Amino acid sequence: MATLRDEVMINGMRLRNRVALPPLTTNYGSPEGRVTDAIIQFYTERSKDVGLVIVEATTVRSDGRIVPGSLGLWEDGQVAGMARLADSIKKLGAAAVLQISHAGARCFPGGGEMQGASPSGFAFRPDVAPFDMNLTQIERMISDFADAAGRAADAGFDGVEIHGAHLYLISQFLSPLTNQRNDHYGGDARGRATLALEVVRAARERLGKDYPILFRINAVEKVEGGQTVEDALAVSRILAFEGVDTLDVSLIPQGSWLEVDDRRFLLPASAFPEEQPAGANVPLTARIREAAGIPVIAVGKLGDGTVAIESVHDSLVDVVALGRQMIADPDSAGKILAGKESEIIPCDECMTCFASIRKGKPMTCKVNRNLPGE
Ligand SMILES: Cc1cc2nc3c(=O)[nH]c(=O)nc-3n(C[C@H](O)[C@H](O)[C@H](O)COP(=O)(O)O)c2cc1C
Repeated sequence: MATLRDEVMINGMRLRNRVALPPLTTNYGSPEGRVTDAIIQFYTERSKDVGLVIVEATTVRSDGRIVPGSLGLWEDGQVAGMARLADSIKKLGAAAVLQISHAGARCFPGGGEMQGASPSGFAFRPDVAPFDMNLTQIERMISDFADAAGRAADAGFDGVEIHGAHLYLISQFLSPLTNQRNDHYGGDARGRATLALEVVRAARERLGKDYPILFRINAVEKVEGGQTVEDALAVSRILAFEGVDTLDVSLIPQGSWLEVDDRRFLLPASAFPEEQPAGANVPLTARIREAAGIPVIAVGKLGDGTVAIESVHDSLVDVVALGRQMIADPDSAGKILAGKESEIIPCDECMTCFASIRKGKPMTCKVNRNLPGE
């Protein structure tokens, strides 16, 4: 019977407790993808209580940014700033993991050769033209992921998380909605997982067997034609077999469509809408844990502490992550760990955080007016 206060080990990385900060794109990076004082402030305010901090989607190529201020590790000059960030998180006692990502056809249109990279041309925004990646481009992308993973380790991060969720590039390959390829990168769940596997393998080769590699996956995509739970279970088994140390289990709880002229563009959500109950993704996360046989991180409206405490207590999941709640009140994790849940300043789920970054602005929050983006 575990409690949130118990430590846990992930391939030699010690988490002092079972509460994590999940990756949260802030749009506080510089236009060159570098760490800023605002980034340091955001993470230090949220590192003092949690066991694990997973730093936001950090792009492996300049043409794979989610927002104009996404962090990057596509060149060696970005390592020093990242070292400052890793150090400031670790100094406060949390383990520091960096999420590495390429947005593919969901990128911010800042230009570059791989802007719009896609398995088979599914468009997400009117201002980014998707193109089908050829085998040479796929190979280059895999080595860009491995290079960024190596730089994350050089910067002193305790581990990396490969972003395979939310219909960014790797997730676009995993999803039957966006991957209609006829070569070995497409087909059934196993074929569609080929890019993910090759990225994991290349990162493992670069980092060695003792370096923690996490992978973020969608448990399900609740959009027509999206990935099913069965697909996710199959992919999770394959990833665990390949040596992924922990699965960070997210989902696409819904999607909306933007209509421009006579074209439609999918806007996939990565957070539950207000009407969903707390912890609605915990049962699927527990199924993935059972199928894969490795530790899992659960996320999704766990911020009031109740379901988070129960899920760890009942051994359904190993670690719980608090996203929007930690934006609204950076002391939420500490209050839950101290049994002072009643003191939490609740996130009101207004989605201002999402809306601000989607407009290309620094992240803001209606509840917390002390964010560096104000
Ligand atoms: C503003 C914002 C930015 C996010 N950025 C990322 C990201 O960079 N990478 C990622 O995997 N998930 C990202 N997410 C998803 C969160 O990590 C988390 O899974 C989601 O918010 C659900 O958890 P919650 O209900 O506790 O907020 C983001 C969520 C929000 C609200």
